[in-house]
Amino acid sequence: MELFYDVKKIRSQFPALNRKVNGNPAIYLDGPGGTQVPKRVVDKMTDYLFYHNANAHGHFATSRECDALHEAARETMADFLNCYAEEIVFGDSSTTNNLMLTFALARNMKAGDEVIITDLDHESNRSPWRHMEERGFVIKSVKVNPDTCQLDLNDYREKLTDKTKIVALNWASNGVGTITDIKPLIDGAHNKGALTIIDAVHYAPHRPIDVKALDIDFLVCSPYKFFGPHMGVLYGKAEELKKLETYRVLVEGNTQPPEKLETGTPQFESICGSAEAVEFIADIGHDCEAWAEREHSETLAGLKGRRWYIVAGMLAIEEYEEPMAKKLRKALMQMDKVKVFGPPEGEPRTSTVSFLIEGLRAGEVARAMGDQGIFVWSGHYYAKELINEVLNLKSVGGLVRIGLAPYNTEEEIDRTIEVIKEIASKA
Ligand SMILES: Cc1ncc(COP(=O)(O)O)c(C=O)c1O
Repeated sequence: MELFYDVKKIRSQFPALNRKVNGNPAIYLDGPGGTQVPKRVVDKMTDYLFYHNANAHGHFATSRECDALHEAARETMADFLNCYAEEIVFGDSSTTNNLMLTFALARNMKAGDEVIITDLDHESNRSPWRHMEERGFVIKSVKVNPDTCQLDLNDYREKLTDKTKIVALNWASNGVGTITDIKPLIDGAHNKGALTIIDAVHYAPHRPIDVKALDIDFLVCSPYKFFGPHMGVLYGKAEELKKLETYRVLVEGNTQPPEKLETGTPQFESICGSAEAVEFIADIGHDCEAWAEREHSETLAGLKGRRWYIVAGMLAIEEYEEPMAKKLRKALMQMDKVKVFGPPEGEPRTSTVSFLIEGLRAGEVARAMGDQGIFVWSGHYYAKELINEVLNLKSVGGLVRIGLAPYNTEEEIDRTIEVIKEIASKA
């Protein structure tokens, strides 16, 4: 592998990676559930709490600093998604942001209006609209092909009608890693006059995002999936945010975007930490500048400043993770009793690899791996429709999910392969 990416330097920034379990070095393959956090992110949060901690909009030093940090974080997150700072909303989580958004959008909808969700999505992007069935909205869920774990695009086209008001889509599946080419689906929705809500929670840690290029109306992502603290970020197109009739405490003054969606006192320390997580990605871009200029000049053409480095950093992460994911999939596919789930080789997917071992429940495999210091998730990870219904895996406890992050190494993948081989041989 070309040395464009200094994994040792990356790893040195994550104190968690020094951990041992039963004498083995811990291998963190639980990234899709939340990545580890570099020290600089925690330092930024500590710095806020020690030296700038105050509530917003006061007439004294720390409150002014808190306001400035909040606004600076919006600028940073706007560079991450390629939008304007006023289009960035900070909230508790993507689930909460989605619920708040749904309640607000639903105020201007009526019984009979149609909403499209998908069977590929995390419940966070399905349930808010499923609850709205009680208001008479018609909720249609796009089918997934169980063999390829990809959306059935014909079914999408059939479900899209002149009555469709909202299309809520998944960009990358946290269950099996499928990446959906959302641009044609967004264009289709816009042709019918519908708004789009994109769940980019699993996509954001693996690929650069450009909300303007795709003409996305709303998008959610969660910084704790890309080296930040636990919170959610919502992008809303300026004109759509302006129109939203959000629910707020009646004494709260600010009804302007983006604060009209930030109810109560924001988590200022987490907002600072989230911005620092994006700076961490930009610094990966700095470190691989020559490589990025050489290999990705077309993608990076026209980008400036921090946005350039963020995109370069994300491209480096993708290029670093991909060969390891491929090696892992190939090894698993060659093992007796092991079945890998997800799109066919060559189709777009993230570095998340889900599998099962015949004769074992998903949780039993995850526990056996966990006992050897390999941290993976098992179950449906809230992609419940996909895993329990489409893939019909409820009886075996769902899937085992290995999620790669930029701090994982090829040696860790080799050890993971060995351990899975051993577990499968005894199954
Ligand atoms: C694809 C996807 N969407 C949404 C969510 C929910 O995000 P949050 O925990 O920020 O509510 C998750 C969390 O795992 C996810 O993976």
